[in-house]
Amino acid sequence: KRVAIFVSGGGSNMRALVADMVGDHAARPVVVVSNNAGAGGIAWAEAQGIATEVVDHRPYGEDRAAFEAALDAALARHAPDIICLAGFMRVLTAGFVSPWAGRMLNIHPSLLPQYRGLHTHRRAIEAGDATHGCTVHLVTPELDDGPVLGQATVPILPEDTADTLSARVLEQEHRLYPAVLRRFAAGNTQRLDL
Ligand code: GRF
Repeated sequence: KRVAIFVSGGGSNMRALVADMVGDHAARPVVVVSNNAGAGGIAWAEAQGIATEVVDHRPYGEDRAAFEAALDAALARHAPDIICLAGFMRVLTAGFVSPWAGRMLNIHPSLLPQYRGLHTHRRAIEAGDATHGCTVHLVTPELDDGPVLGQATVPILPEDTADTLSARVLEQEHRLYPAVLRRFAAGNTQRLDL
């Protein structure tokens, strides 16, 4: 299977996915895509010899369809079978997502369906929750809402800040996402709970 990984920032999840796609893994990374030319993930991918595509969203303004048409054109050059969103910070419309139904994954830093959207760590702390975590799910047009493929849970400690909690969650993201992609690429959609 050919995997495209979408990043906007440092791409720590991308690096964990790439590191695991070796040996008898049924998938290989074929392109790293970003909306941000300065994304650390792009520089890292280039250094690894992985193809990269940058489609800056800013020239398109509010014309999401035009931005997504440019994404499609960039992707076509690499013929991916699976898309992994990994710290990709642009909302994708149904027009882009629907053709990828069942073949696009995302990692979200909460135990969905709790805390869709942004600032999930601060929200969990402010709610007084005892546990938090991350979710890998199939992407549907509804934001952070598709079928769950896996979750990892961490404790929220009394002295936690959003930063300490997000660091604890990120560690688990780097375990969960590779483990889910490895089984997903082999055709196994059984839910994984770490
Ligand atoms: C992480 O908080 C992750 O949960 C979210 O994007 C953030 C950055 O991820 N998906 P990465 O280090 O760029 O992979």
